Amino acid sequence: MCGIIGYVGTDEVVPVLLDGLRRLEYRGYDSAGIAVMEADGIGILRAAGKLRNLQQRAYHEPLHGTVGIGHTRWATHGAPTEANAHPQTDSAGAVAVVHNGILENYSSLRRELLAAGVELESDTDTELIAQLLGREDGPLSERVLKVVSRLEGQYAVVAVHHEEPDVVVAFRKGPPLVVGVGDGETLVASDVTALLHRTRRVIYLLNGDVAVIRRDGVRILDADGGELERPEETLDWDAGRVEKGGYRHFMLKEIFEQPDAIRNTVLAYLDQERCGVNLDGLGFAPEDFSKLRRVHLVACGTSWHACLVGKFVIEELTGLPTEVDYASEYRYRAPLIGEDVLVVGVTQSGETADTLAAMELARDGGAMLTTVCNVRGSSSWRLATSRMLTQAGPEIGVASTKAFTTQLVAMVLIALALRAAHGRADETDCELVGELQRLPLAVEQVLAVDRELYRRGTEMLGDATDSLYLGRGILYPIALEGALKLKEISYLHAEGYPAGEMKHGPIALLEEDFPVVAVALNGPTREKLLGNLMEARARGAAVMAVAEEDAEEVHQVADLVLPVPRVHPLLQPVVAVVPLQLLAYNVAVELGHDVDQPRNLAKSVTVE
Ligand code: M6R
Repeated sequence: MCGIIGYVGTDEVVPVLLDGLRRLEYRGYDSAGIAVMEADGIGILRAAGKLRNLQQRAYHEPLHGTVGIGHTRWATHGAPTEANAHPQTDSAGAVAVVHNGILENYSSLRRELLAAGVELESDTDTELIAQLLGREDGPLSERVLKVVSRLEGQYAVVAVHHEEPDVVVAFRKGPPLVVGVGDGETLVASDVTALLHRTRRVIYLLNGDVAVIRRDGVRILDADGGELERPEETLDWDAGRVEKGGYRHFMLKEIFEQPDAIRNTVLAYLDQERCGVNLDGLGFAPEDFSKLRRVHLVACGTSWHACLVGKFVIEELTGLPTEVDYASEYRYRAPLIGEDVLVVGVTQSGETADTLAAMELARDGGAMLTTVCNVRGSSSWRLATSRMLTQAGPEIGVASTKAFTTQLVAMVLIALALRAAHGRADETDCELVGELQRLPLAVEQVLAVDRELYRRGTEMLGDATDSLYLGRGILYPIALEGALKLKEISYLHAEGYPAGEMKHGPIALLEEDFPVVAVALNGPTREKLLGNLMEARARGAAVMAVAEEDAEEVHQVADLVLPVPRVHPLLQPVVAVVPLQLLAYNVAVELGHDVDQPRNLAKSVTVE
C-alpha cells in the first residue's frame, strides 16, 4: 500500500529519496514526504497529493544530507492531508518515522499518550510510534526494541533519531521491508523496485526483525537484541524493467509484454521430452502430489479470477475436486483442511494480507501449501513450502495484466503436474504442451488487431455509464476480469456475470445505453451464450463480443467483434482476456484518467 524508502550513504539524499518514491508511487499516492538528517537536526518536507507536489517543495525548500527516509501514503488513519502525511515526528522533533500498515491498538495508545499530556498533531497511528520512540531513552535500536512489544497490528516502520545522524532503523511485522546492500551505501524499502537502480544485492527482513542500517551494512536484531543472520540474495530483475520503455503507460507496456511473460513462464517449467512439467528445485515432490485428494485455491481480486479458471483446468485435467475462495472469506471460515489438501495461494505481489492469512490457516491445518507468485522472496514465497514463480517480471500498473495471464498459465502447469503425479498423463498432454508453447504467438496476434476496432469498442463503452460482461464455463471468470479492469481504471460501472444468470436479475437493467460485452469463444456453451445475447439485443442493448475471427454466428449477433485466434479450450481464457485489457485501457485513456495510478487503489494490499 504505502511506499517506504530509507538511505544511508554518501550521495545527496533528497534526489535518492525522490527517485525511490517515484518508483514506489504506484503503491499508494495520496500524499508523500521525506525526512533528511541535516547538520542541525531532522529536516522534514511533506505534501498532500501526487509526488510532484513534494518534488516542487523539495526544489523550493532544499534539504541537505546523506541520510534520510521517505514515504508515499495510502491513507488509513486520517484524511490524506499534509498533517497526516509521513514522516511523522515526536513532539520534540527528535524522531521521525515512516510506516506502512495499521496499528490495531491505535485507540488505547492514543488515549494513553493524551493522558500523559502529549499533544498529538495528526490523526495517524504513525505519529503514535514516533511519540513512543521519543519517550524512551538510549540509542534508536534500543528504543525500538522497547516500543515494538507495545505495537499490535501490522507494520513496517523505518525511523531516524537526530542524535544518530548515520543510522536508520527498520522493523516489521506484516508488510514487507527489504534492505539493499550497495557499495558504501545501504538502503531499505518496502519493495525491491525502489532499490534496483542502485543495487541488486538484497536482504529480506522477516517478521520481528529490527535492522540497524549504516553506510557499511546492516545488523539485524531479534526481539531481545540478539544478532541474527539473514541471507543476502542477488535479484535477477534489472532496473530497465521498471521503466516505461517508450510506452505511454506501464499498463500498456505490460499488456504488450504478455507474449514474453507467458513464454518465460512456460519455458521455466516445461519438460518437453516428457510432455509434462518440470518441477525440480521448486519444492514440489511428485510423491507428495500423488497423496493429494482435493485442491483449495485462495486469492483476492484479479488473482481470484485466475483461481476460478484454475478450478475448471484442474478438475478437467486431474479429476481432483477444487474449491476457490476469496482469501478474505477463507481466513474467517472453517475450511475442511487436511494433509490430503493442496492449498495454493495465488498472488502477484506475494504480500496481500488476506491471502497470507489464508495461507497461514492452511499451513496450520496441515495442508500442503504452495504459492503461485510473481515476486521471488516475497512473504507468500517464504510462507509456502513449494512455489511456482510466474515469470511476468515487475508489474507496476495497478491494474494487473501480465501477472494474470501468467497465473492462468501456472494453473495449467500445476494441473499437468498433478495429473502426472496421479498417473493420468496420456498423449493428449503432448497436444496441450504444444499449444502452451504456441500460446505467446496467439497473444501476439491479438495484440496486432486493427486499432480501429478498439476505437469503436471504446466509443460503445465510454458513452455508457454501465455495462454487463458475460461469459460461460471457463470463460465466465474472464467476463468478471474484463468488468474489473474497466471499473478499476475507467471508473465506469461494469458487472461481470455467468451468462446463464442474466435472466435471473441483471436483465432488468438492460436498455439502449447499457452495452453487453460477451466472451464468446468456441465451445460447448457458445450457442447458449448467443441465445443470451439475442435476449440482450431484444432489450435494445448494444453487443460487443470477443470471438474467433471466423465465428460467423457471433458476427451475426454482435455489433462489434474483437477477434482472437483459435487455441486449445483450456487456454482460451488467456487469449480472451487480452482484448478486454486493451478495451479497458483505451476507455480509461479516452476519459482522461490516470491509468497506472487509479484513484483509491494500491498495487499491493498489505492491510486487511
Ligand atoms: O498481489 P495480489 O495478486 O495478491 O493482489 C490481489 C488484488 O489486490 C489484485 O489482483 C487487484 O485486484 C488488482 N488491482 C487487479 O487489477
